[in-house]
This record gives sequence, C-alpha cells and structure tokens, in this order.
Amino acid sequence: MQVLMHYRGSYLTAVICVILFCMLLVFQTPVDEVSEGMCACKDCVRQQTHSVWFNELYDLSVQPLLTQKNYVLSEDIFKYWKGLQKNKREGNYTAVVEKLFSLFPDKTQYSDASPKRCRTCAVIGNSGNLKGSHYGHLIDLHDFVIRINMGPTKGYENDVGSKTTHRFLYPESAMDVDNSTYLVLSPFKILDMEWLISAFTTKNITRTYKRVRTSIKANRHKVMILHPAFIKYVHKTWLLKRAKYPSTGFLAIIFALHVCDQVSTFGFGADQYGNWYHYFEKTSHKIRTGAHSGSFEFDTMMQLYLENKIQVYRGR
Ligand SMILES: *[C@@H]1O[C@H](CO)[C@@H](O)[C@H](O)[C@H]1NC(C)=O
Ligand SMILES: *[C@@H]1O[C@H](CO)[C@@H](O)[C@H](O)[C@H]1NC(C)=O
Ligand SMILES: *[C@@H]1O[C@H](CO)[C@@H](O)[C@H](O)[C@H]1NC(C)=O
Repeated sequence: MQVLMHYRGSYLTAVICVILFCMLLVFQTPVDEVSEGMCACKDCVRQQTHSVWFNELYDLSVQPLLTQKNYVLSEDIFKYWKGLQKNKREGNYTAVVEKLFSLFPDKTQYSDASPKRCRTCAVIGNSGNLKGSHYGHLIDLHDFVIRINMGPTKGYENDVGSKTTHRFLYPESAMDVDNSTYLVLSPFKILDMEWLISAFTTKNITRTYKRVRTSIKANRHKVMILHPAFIKYVHKTWLLKRAKYPSTGFLAIIFALHVCDQVSTFGFGADQYGNWYHYFEKTSHKIRTGAHSGSFEFDTMMQLYLENKIQVYRGR
C-alpha cells in the first residue's frame, strides 16, 4: 500500500510538472512582441522615451552614409563641410563623388530595422581604461564591433576582442583593415575622398595637411563613406558645435545609434586614476585629465547612458 502511495505521489508530481511546462510554453511571450514592434532586443534605441533631450537630438531622417542617390549637398551643408578643414588643392565635389561610386559599392545600407531584428553593436574607443579590462570576450559577442582609427586588436585580444566588423578612419589616421571589415571613411574635406580613391588606384596623394599613407590594404567591396550632412548633424545637433569637429569615436557612436538596436561603448574616457592615454601606447604618454575627461563629447555619452540609450563600460 505504502509502495502504491509512493508510486502515485511521483505520478502526480510528474503530471503537474508536465502541465506547468506546457503552461510555460503557452504563456511565454516571444521577446519581439514585448518590445512594441521596434526591435527584437530587450531595449531598443528607437523606442519612444520620455526624454525630451534625446527626442530633440535624434533624427533618423539624416542618413549616415553617402550614396549616389543622396550625394547632392544643399548649399548650407556644402558650406559647412568646406569650412571644416580648408584645403586649396582639392577637386570638384561632384566629379570626385562620381569617381568614388565607380570604384566603391553604392548601396543603401542598414535600412533593415524591423521588429524581428536585434542588432547589438559595440563601439570601441582607444582609451587606456581597456588595459586589463578583460572585455574581449564580451566585445566579440556583439553583431557589429566598430573600431576607431589605429586601435589594434593583435596582442590585445583579452581586453579589446578580436572581431572588427567596421573601422572608422580618415587619411591621417589610416591603417590596413581585414578583408572582412568595412572601412568607413569620415571625410572632413573633399581631399579625404580623393585620398580614398588614390589609395586604391594611383597612390599619388602623399599629403593632406600632413604626410599620409599613400596606400592601404582593404577590401574595395567593403568601403563606406560618411555623409557630410551626417557629420554636420553630429557636430551641430549632438555637440552644439562645442568642438572644431566631431571625433571619429563620437561619429561612430551616433552612427551606431542610427543603424543598431542596442549600443554598448567600451574604451572611452579616462582610466580610474583620471589618466588618458591609448591602450596600445606605452604608459609614459599618460595625460592627467581628472576623474572625468571633461569633454563635451564624453558628457553627451554619459547623458545617453543616463537616458538608457547606450551601455557604457568604463574599464579600469
Ligand atoms: C564639377 O564636375 C561636374 C561633373 O563632372 C561638372 O558638371 C561641373 O561643371 C564641375 N564644376 C566645376 C565648378 O568645375
Ligand atoms: C576578399 O573578399 C572579397 C569579397 O568581398 C573576395 O572577392 C576576395 O577574394 C577576398 N580576398 C581575400 C584576399 O581573401
Ligand atoms: C594623381 O594622378 C592622377 C591621374 O594620373 C592625376 O589626375 C592627379 O592630378 C594626380 N594627383 C596628384 C596629387 O598628383
């Protein structure tokens, strides 16, 4: 009898377990339904917030990348852009852009936002606070890993990861990129676009305002160019023109806000002792900047963090 009771007990337990399991299956809502149709992540950049500050600055109608469809600039934007880094030797914008699109892809990229998409992006700055951070694995888990200028991965994988899907650069900060990595040019002048053409063809542009690399290794099918209107938008709207021009890192963060569903930043700002240096430089180059880098860009980043629009990993 006792044996039977025991047996019945486990039988009941099993039945209850099965019922509970079925209920779980039925009532579990897929993540992409929870987030009200904006994206399939837990939080989506595009999601409406009550932040008046964010809503006023964030303008998805500004396209980050230059294409053959959108390259004509309004007089206002052309004038702004021409004033950034004046150069006497540069060519005719229209002719240069036409040449660009005969060499590089002309596709509208990243207009694939959908309730089913959860694109996670990591933007990696070059701060020394990455040293000893062990962020490498976490960084590599992101769909896009966007790196800036000369920030290397080789030899620093533990702290900065090994994956690079995009590298933002300009002629004076250029380096070789892998065949699988997108090269994203931040053009601050027409000559920068001419340099890009030259670097893949004649290799005869050797100087801008200083000596530059005449050639770079990169995949011609993976080249993108930031739109001058996007640079103006980042500079005037996001930075209220508080700097001469936006840094590549800050351009990359706002780019990520436009093309990703979730954005994390690593390696921006000073280290825990208030020193600022590149993670790949000898530490004798340390510059003391105080507990916070104090730059307007960094303050804007922290505001984005407070508004829950980006994650900020501060390192060590
Ligand atoms: C610039 O180039 C375009 C196309 O090649 C040409 O139509 C235009 O006349 C040129 N403008 C100037 C000021 O030379
Ligand atoms: C680089 O990638 C392109 C396709 O984007 C491919 O055609 C080419 O063979 C690759 N080159 C190397 C060296 O792997
Ligand atoms: C580079 O070469 C091209 C074509 O050969 C030429 O049109 C251009 O003026 C040259 N640029 C410089 C800076 O030498």
